[in-house]
Amino acid sequence: MDERPYSPGLEGVLAGETSLGKVDGERGRLTYRGYPIEELVRAGTYAQVAELLWTGDWPASAHLPTAPLPESVLAALRALPPTSHPMDALRTTTSVWGAINRPGWPPTVDQARALTSLAPSALAAFARIRQGLEPIEPNDELELAAGFLYQLFGQMPDPAAARALDAYFITGAEHGFNASTFAARVITSTQSDIASAVCGAIGAMKGPLHGGAPSEVVNQLHEIGSVEHAEVWLDGALDRGERLMGFGHRVYRAYDPRAAALRHVAEGMAGIADWLKLAVAVEDMAQRKLKERHPDRPLFTNVEYYAAAVLQGVGLPPDLFPATFALSRHAGWTAHVLEQAAANRLIRPDVRYVGHAERSLPGVTANS
Ligand code: COA
Repeated sequence: MDERPYSPGLEGVLAGETSLGKVDGERGRLTYRGYPIEELVRAGTYAQVAELLWTGDWPASAHLPTAPLPESVLAALRALPPTSHPMDALRTTTSVWGAINRPGWPPTVDQARALTSLAPSALAAFARIRQGLEPIEPNDELELAAGFLYQLFGQMPDPAAARALDAYFITGAEHGFNASTFAARVITSTQSDIASAVCGAIGAMKGPLHGGAPSEVVNQLHEIGSVEHAEVWLDGALDRGERLMGFGHRVYRAYDPRAAALRHVAEGMAGIADWLKLAVAVEDMAQRKLKERHPDRPLFTNVEYYAAAVLQGVGLPPDLFPATFALSRHAGWTAHVLEQAAANRLIRPDVRYVGHAERSLPGVTANS
């Protein structure tokens, strides 16, 4: 038996080095290249944040519009059944883009920009095609979040909604060695191309343990329905051993700083006042009850809770929430691809073998 230490899920294992994002779970702090998330949300745009992640410099201004879809990508999206998972549509887009552009090694910032600006056009196009509507050409005066809303709904987005989604994109851009980012880095470490790495990342994020609970937060609040009904509902769910959606985190032992930033954004949004009032009341009650039931385990609100408010507030259908999260993470994934390539070493850990001892096939004598 190999007696070297083994940590299931690699929990607590240092598996690389990065200068991109720092997640301080104990203190509830998140920084991108040293800048705190709340400042980035308050004073920055997603385009600036993406450039910061890719290049290391904070640009005074930046413009990142959505990109036109190549014909072959459009043809692939049209060939998908309307029932396809939006994450599959996104992964297919990246795969087709990689096949036609054949991005080489090493990956470049231009490739990172191209993939990040392609994905919102593709998701918007797929969402329209599955409803029997025609895709809409990008408006290259709009920034990524506004351009996505424009191509999704076919009308100029309300500036406050576009700003709210941009803020959501900033909070989703980067988060250390989460499963999808790690998958992208493993693929890059083989000197494979950036499209393959992002396909793998999308695949990893599609899983429900990663790709998010915001649509379940919406369902949860829908079921709760009113502040008066909240206590009975929460007690019932906790008595049945269910998880409250939008609470708890593997890393944070404090209030998720992204939730705080998004709550602030949500409070400035029109049209969700009633929903938000219920959300805030349920949050207070849920945190109190989680503290009573788990006095030794800090369980606070996580990013998904207020992400739900923003995504719902800008009018996205809940089944697009996970893929919209993936749009935001493109900047982080591709920045990690660049960082991995710049100091590459093939990622190839060892595994502890726990199977049969060496033996012979039935009827075969050893060494005969
Ligand atoms: N609601 C109720 N209880 C919760 C809880 C939640 N949201 N999150 C954790 N707990 C409880 C667990 O039941 C467990 O209790 P036990 O020790 O009595 O069995 C304890 O807290 C520790 O949970 P654990 O599974 O070790 O936490 P984790 O670090 O593995 O889980 C999450 C992290 C995010 C998977 C978990 O908190 C969760 O399922 N949250 C709800 C889904 C969600 O919001 N996901 C989005 C994350 S960004």
